[in-house]
Amino acid sequence: MTDPLVEAARAVQQRAYAPYSRFRVGCAVEADDGRVFVGCNVENASYGLTICAERSAVCAAVAAGARALRRAVVVSDTDPPAAPCGACRQVLREFGRELSVLGVGPAGTTTWTMAELLPSAFGPEQLA
Ligand code: THU
Repeated sequence: MTDPLVEAARAVQQRAYAPYSRFRVGCAVEADDGRVFVGCNVENASYGLTICAERSAVCAAVAAGARALRRAVVVSDTDPPAAPCGACRQVLREFGRELSVLGVGPAGTTTWTMAELLPSAFGPEQLA
């Protein structure tokens, strides 16, 4: 059975703007109310300004009023599938302490918990 979150991440991967790395990434996140938001990597001629797919998806979710995220899917063209970079892990953690992350590549998938991706995390609860 196809997972709509995987399909959404696959579709948005096609919109990635990655003329420099040629490494296209698509991300779909599911909020606790079931809504799905997507993002792709957007590179820039000033390389350091590149935005990753995951952070792009999180920003779309927050802009639409979502807060708690329960699942994320990251689609890339590598095997094993690409995991979120360090910066994206921290940003995902902000909205998904219990987030489940699925990496999807051409030949397989990998699942991570947020705690596996970012152990001993610093998060909003520390500032409460
Ligand atoms: N990239 C992402 O979009 N997400 C990640 O978690 C890892 C890296 C993008 C950034 C850049 O456009 C390309 O992949 C190569 O690093």
